[in-house]
Amino acid sequence: MRFSRRDAVRALFAWAAGSPFTLAQDDDPLYGPVNVFDFARLAKAKLDPLAWDYLDGGSEDEAALHDNREIFNKLIIRPRMLVDVHKIDLSTELFGKKLDYPILLDPAGGKNCFFPNGEAAVAMAAGNAKALHIVNGGIDELLESGKGSKVWWQLTTGGQLQSQQTMRSFVKRLEAQGCSGICFTVDIMHVSHRERDIRNKLERAWCETGLPKRDAQGRMPPAKNPWRAGVYPSRPFPTPTWNTLRELCSMTRLPVVVKGILIGEDGARAVEYGAAGVIVSNHGARQLDHVGATMEALPEVVKAINGRIPVMIDGGFRRGTDILKALALGAKAVAVARPYLYGLAAFGQRGVERVIELLRAELALDMGLAGVANLAAIDKSLVRFRGESLW
Ligand SMILES: Cc1cc2nc3c(=O)[nH]c(=O)nc-3n(C[C@H](O)[C@H](O)[C@H](O)COP(=O)(O)O)c2cc1C
Repeated sequence: MRFSRRDAVRALFAWAAGSPFTLAQDDDPLYGPVNVFDFARLAKAKLDPLAWDYLDGGSEDEAALHDNREIFNKLIIRPRMLVDVHKIDLSTELFGKKLDYPILLDPAGGKNCFFPNGEAAVAMAAGNAKALHIVNGGIDELLESGKGSKVWWQLTTGGQLQSQQTMRSFVKRLEAQGCSGICFTVDIMHVSHRERDIRNKLERAWCETGLPKRDAQGRMPPAKNPWRAGVYPSRPFPTPTWNTLRELCSMTRLPVVVKGILIGEDGARAVEYGAAGVIVSNHGARQLDHVGATMEALPEVVKAINGRIPVMIDGGFRRGTDILKALALGAKAVAVARPYLYGLAAFGQRGVERVIELLRAELALDMGLAGVANLAAIDKSLVRFRGESLW
């Protein structure tokens, strides 16, 4: 009997339709959303409006929040044709750790507002997805058991760095725990005005414990200490300085990554004071507003650092093409927060894993379509600003 091409195609479709993978995907709502924006819509529908605003909002005018996304439409990819792209390799290396792909999970406090025991759910997802996870804390036992994130950096915003003694015990504990790095967030010396949260009278502690239940009329219990405007900023202790960074770096063999750099001068200073890497970040537009998009800051930071330490970036990355553009402008890796938080809110751990899978697959596909088969092939010539003349 002759087996025609049409028979072969039919057989393939029949196999695909009957395969357990296809059936599982068809029945499983996890596979309904096809991109990060779909996950955002699901998360919004699922969450209490207070939690949604805390997740998605920015500070003051939300100008930087808008800018973080807007910039991607101003950057155009210059695809290369007739390059062999049958195999696409996203792998990279950061501080001696091999990563399968250059997408990191940013720190995010208050995950319990989005999903019970949210930090552990994200750590489990990061472990399964082999993603580098910047941990906020509170999951020591999970990490020690080796079940959660395998490559993880511990976040600090300076609280543990107040004295030599607290700093020393912080780094000793991390080294003993098998931590892979320290992420020092430097843009949150005061908490900004996130006006959605202020209007909602959000109690910040609720984001740690989970939101309380609304009453029969749909009202939240009154907050004891709601987020307010018009409170003059002050902190009980001096806030960290560049010398704090130097001290921290000299005390540990772990790489220290400074998160929240937005100007070239600070990029150069970070190198000078011992940082192993920087993350160009405006805290997801949740801290100082009107600082522009992080993608606008990236070129000057890359230029100032001049290859001495890796430069990473976050802020508004939702698409494979967004990530590709940042890699083209010199980022070593891209970190995301809200995308995986949308996944967490919508489906818990599996949602986080699926969002990572979608971003990773989009990046690989976009690289394949742009004629770059691996990260080494990506350089500045892969993008241009709309309207920028190249001749
Ligand atoms: C809900 C939420 C909580 C966050 N908490 C922290 C935090 O505790 N420490 C920190 O350094 N950054 C925090 N960030 C900022 C992120 O780490 C990251 O810089 C930013 O959100 C990236 O932008 P994206 O959300 O558009 O991906 C938080 C962001 C969100 C959305």
